[in-house]
Amino acid sequence: MISANVVTLLYLIASVCFIQALKGLSHPTTSRRGNAFGMVGMAIAILTTAALIISLAREGTAALDLGRIVLGLLIGGSVGTVLARKVEMTKMPELIAFMHSMIGLAAVAIAIAVVAEPHAFGIAAIGAPIPTGNRLELFIGTFVGAITFSGSVIAFGKLSGKYKFRLFQGAPVTFAGQHLLNLVLAIVMLACGFWFMGTQSWLPFVLMAAIAFVLGVLIIIPIGGADMPVVISMLNSYSGWAAAGIGFSLNNPMLIIAGSLVGSSGAILSYIMCKAMNRSFFNVILGGFGAEPSAGGGAAAGQRNVKSGSPDDAAFLMSNAETVTIIPGYGLAVARAQHALKELAAKLADQGVTVKYAIHPVAGRMPGHMNVLLAEAEVPYDQVFEMEDINGEFSQTDVVLVLGANDVVNPAAKNDPKSPIAGMPILEAYKARTVIVNKRSMAAGYAGLDNELFYMDKTMMVFGDAKKVLEDMLKALD
Ligand code: TAP
Repeated sequence: MISANVVTLLYLIASVCFIQALKGLSHPTTSRRGNAFGMVGMAIAILTTAALIISLAREGTAALDLGRIVLGLLIGGSVGTVLARKVEMTKMPELIAFMHSMIGLAAVAIAIAVVAEPHAFGIAAIGAPIPTGNRLELFIGTFVGAITFSGSVIAFGKLSGKYKFRLFQGAPVTFAGQHLLNLVLAIVMLACGFWFMGTQSWLPFVLMAAIAFVLGVLIIIPIGGADMPVVISMLNSYSGWAAAGIGFSLNNPMLIIAGSLVGSSGAILSYIMCKAMNRSFFNVILGGFGAEPSAGGGAAAGQRNVKSGSPDDAAFLMSNAETVTIIPGYGLAVARAQHALKELAAKLADQGVTVKYAIHPVAGRMPGHMNVLLAEAEVPYDQVFEMEDINGEFSQTDVVLVLGANDVVNPAAKNDPKSPIAGMPILEAYKARTVIVNKRSMAAGYAGLDNELFYMDKTMMVFGDAKKVLEDMLKALD
């Protein structure tokens, strides 16, 4: 038998662990500790909930099916373990989208169970109506959960790029009157929610949930695949609020605290990402960005001359430099070239070159993408610098090596007020004495823009897959 006080205390300890987890995850050096806190907190939360259910069953308050609880834990635990071990870094946003969809669905499933049998959750006596306050919580948890579920499924499809289905294509799906339709549906959904609060009928609940599922799809389809990381973070926030809403219905402080932590951290992360891309949140969720190559990109790029060199030339330039700053981007992650990069940096350091890494907050396709990539290759943290800490140093840097990065070093953000990325903070690589850029072609990056940096006199392009180019540079240094 576990007393209510002990349960509250254990939930409080788990909540403190989650707060410590978030704190730890805010810096690479403490991220392992943060993860450990998260794991301990989750273990405490799950075991306490299981103990509580067993205890309630012994009192005769809840129906106990220990077998099903253990089966659920085994299935969930094994699927999670296999996915976490198998997933590639570039596929991480997809995995997160999948998990959010599960959280959203779980919130809806719990709400259905509560509406069907409120007495089993201690919300109302057998046969008595659900109090209005609980109905409001169920309404919020259900519609946020349903939007999170269907929105995350679409986001998953768009990110994976594997499915032929039109709604799962990376390109935005837009049609006339789309925003008006969304608005009307949202109003009808809210109206059904308020109707549900004043009646015992299932009809408004079912209607509200069905409209929310449709809205989740409609909200995400106009957004391009490359904007999905911001959307994922937004859905992350929604899934947290859905869990918190259900936590109120179930009178479960653990769910309320954990849900609020996820909800608010997701919202803050979405804000940070939008700020780093110099785009408003509405610009992202209204969609369409980066879908078509803008003027100056693609075809126009093919007609201008650039200076290109071989990996040997690049190795020569770097080994004769005093300072080399490496700027990793999405292409480095695609090529999985982080280990070769670390070897190159170590070899340059052996030859007396001071090597640093410069990280743009939205380099790659998910928050912290480059930090994770470099950490995977065990690049020392003291060599890794954030944009605002290193931008002042580029004018004294001998060589900048840009690897599979494009938009995050595009001077148009600073120099061209008409550019779609005008005002986006960039790594000021163009100020260095020499710039080496590795990419496979002159194709545009995520924003579909041409990049003036590639045409500067001081720039040498080294074309090819980042991994192959880095391996060739390594051979040349030997
Ligand atoms: P991008 O601007 O997308 O440029 C990546 C470059 O890598 C491309 O120009 C591509 O050129 C090259 N590339 C691709 N595969 C390669 C390979 N195997 N080897 C070598 N190069 C390769 O990337 P970025 O500079 O990292 O900027 C990130 C962009 O994503 C920003 O516009 C940002 O706003 C956006 N974004 C980021 C996030 C987050 S949170 N990170 C979220 C949403 C949007 P080639 O095809 O010619 O090789």
